[in-house]
Amino acid sequence: MSMEQKNALIEQLCVRARILPVITIGSEAQILPLADALAAGGLHTLEITLRSAHGLTAIRRLREERPELCIGAGTVLDRRMMDEVEAVGAQFVVTPGASREVLEAGVQCSVPVLPGTSSATDIMEGYALGYRCFKLFPAQICGGIAALRAFAGPFGDVRFCPTGGINADNAREYLALPNVMCVGGTWMIDGTSLANGDWAAIQRASTEALATLG
Ligand code: 3PG
Repeated sequence: MSMEQKNALIEQLCVRARILPVITIGSEAQILPLADALAAGGLHTLEITLRSAHGLTAIRRLREERPELCIGAGTVLDRRMMDEVEAVGAQFVVTPGASREVLEAGVQCSVPVLPGTSSATDIMEGYALGYRCFKLFPAQICGGIAALRAFAGPFGDVRFCPTGGINADNAREYLALPNVMCVGGTWMIDGTSLANGDWAAIQRASTEALATLG
């Protein structure tokens, strides 16, 4: 797939999703019920991070057992991790930053990579390699809405998925920006509900998260 095709694919996938839940799986038993709760609440595109030992297993199992969902990998920090998530079937890859290593690996990767950026320089590094879609991270800390408005000047053909500090109070305002294709975050996955296996609460929170977008 060319970079043009990958840009078009990741943009389409993000626009359709509107919200990209960032998921860290705490135990194997959580994998299916958590994904099912999010999906029942309307969130069908999921970013499974490699922050826990269960990340790769979760991606593999969800690809096999929930083929109707769109499953991406997050917290991919280097080329080795990118190879691993590609091998287990991740349909897209998210990185927290724009190191030279992940940017170059992402050009070779068979699925789209959404590199993290927090500065104009990061965007320019990725832009030179053909990237047009980025995660803005950590969005609320690195300038939030004002930064996205400012980036729209020099980077008119770049679109973002802001993540980090997005919640029910600000998601709608972010998504209203023309250069925002979706918002990412964890706010619909409350830690207590997750620990207690309260899947109904996570389903409700997912439905509410989408509802706040209007
Ligand atoms: C991420 O890595 O994308 C963030 O941890 C998600 O940020 P949040 O917990 O503030 O939503």
